[in-house]
Amino acid sequence: MVDPIQSGRNGETRNIIDDEFKVTPWEVEGEIDYNKLIESFGTQKITPDVLEKIKDLIGEVHPMLKLQYFFSHRDFDWILSKYEKGDKFYLYTGRGPSGMIHMGHLLPWIFTKYLQDKFDAKLLFQITDDEKFLYGQDRTLQQIHHFTYENILDIIAVGFDPKKTKIIVDTKHIKHLYPIATEVAKRITLSTAKAVFGFSNSTNIGMIGFPSIQAAPCFLPSIIEGKPIPVLIPAAIDQDPYWRMTRDVAERLGYYKPAQIHSKFLPGLGISGKMSSSKPETALFTTDEPEVVEKKVSTAFTGGQATVALQRKLGGNPAGCPVFWYLRYFFDTERQSDERLLKCRSGNLLCGECKSDLALQSKSFIVDFRKRRESAKDVIKEFMYNGET
Ligand code: TYM
Repeated sequence: MVDPIQSGRNGETRNIIDDEFKVTPWEVEGEIDYNKLIESFGTQKITPDVLEKIKDLIGEVHPMLKLQYFFSHRDFDWILSKYEKGDKFYLYTGRGPSGMIHMGHLLPWIFTKYLQDKFDAKLLFQITDDEKFLYGQDRTLQQIHHFTYENILDIIAVGFDPKKTKIIVDTKHIKHLYPIATEVAKRITLSTAKAVFGFSNSTNIGMIGFPSIQAAPCFLPSIIEGKPIPVLIPAAIDQDPYWRMTRDVAERLGYYKPAQIHSKFLPGLGISGKMSSSKPETALFTTDEPEVVEKKVSTAFTGGQATVALQRKLGGNPAGCPVFWYLRYFFDTERQSDERLLKCRSGNLLCGECKSDLALQSKSFIVDFRKRRESAKDVIKEFMYNGET
C-alpha cells in the first residue's frame, strides 16, 4: 500500500502514497485521498464522539469540523479531556513566509482564532523564515524578510487577541527556541530525518537540522509556564511529518506529546491541486485588487458540463469543482451549500451563478481584510514575542 521513496532504519517515508499523490511540508501534488492519508500517516479520524465532546464543552460544533474540513487529529480527544478537567492548553500554529498570503492559509488561522476565543487559549505563532530561505534556491534572506513583514500583517488581520498571541520569527527570536531545538536535535538521527522528510544526500544541512526548530514551540509553553502544558496545533495535514518526529521525542524530554488537528487543503481555482502561491493565477491573495479577484474567479475551472444544454440535461459535478468547495468552506452556510450541491447535480444551477457568488463574496471579504491589514501596521509590536506570553 505504502510506496516509500526512501527507507530508513526507523521507518519508511510515508509521504508518497500509491504513486497517486504526494503530501510533504514542502510539496502537495495529485488528487489527495484523505482516508488513505489518515492510514498512511497513522493519524485518527475526527469521529462523531469527538464532535459530541466539543458540543458538550462549548455548546456548538464549528462548520469546519461539521463539514470535515478538519478531518483528522492526534490526541485532540485527550486535549479536550484535559480541558474538561480544568487543564488549559496552548495553541501553536505557523507560517513559512515564502510569498503573500492566500485564502488557503487563512482557513486554519481563522479556525485557530475561533479555538482561541472559545477555549480562552494562548497562542504561539511561529514564522519559519529560516525554513523558507533554506528550502529552494532562489530566495534571498532579504526577500524572505519582506514576506515576513507582509505575512505578519495578515496574521494580525485575522483578529487574534493581542494579549494572548505571540509571534515568533525564527531568525529574530532564535535564542528562545535554540535551547529546546538543541535538545530535540540530539535525539533525532539522520536516518529518522531522511525517513520522515525524504531528505537525501543533496539536501543542505540547514534543512536537515531545521525540523528541530519547528518542534521547539511545542515545548516552549511548558518552559514559559514552568510545568508541562498541553499544546494543540491546528494546521493543514502537510505539516504532520514535523509532529510525528516531535511526538517521538516529547516524553523523553519530559513534555507532553503535542496534539494536532489536521485540515484538508483549500483547492486552487485550477483543474486540480491545492491553492498555492506557486500558482498565483489560481490562488486568491489577501492583497488582490477586486478586478484581479473577479478575473481569477471568472476563469476558474468548474465541475460543469461543456455547454449550458448539457449542464441542464446531465447536471454538474460539484465534488470536482473548486468553486463549489471554496464556497462551501469559506462562505456558504451548510444549508446553502447542500442546496447548491443538489441544484448543481440536477442541472438547475449553472457555473456562472456559482462563479458570480464566489466573486462577490471573495471581493467583499478581501476588501474588508485589506483594511484590517492596514490597521495591523500600528500594532505589530504588541504581537511580537518577548520571552513571555
Ligand atoms: P506554510 O506557510 O506552508 O502554510 C501555512 C499554513 O497554511 C496551511 N496551508 C493550507 N491550508 C489549506 N489550504 C491550502 N491550500 C494550504 N496551503 C497551506 C499549512 O498547513 C499551514 O498550516 N513550516 C510551516 C510553518 C510553521 C507551521 C508551524 C505551520 C511553523 N510552525 C506550526 C503550522 C503549524 C509552513 O511553511 O507553513
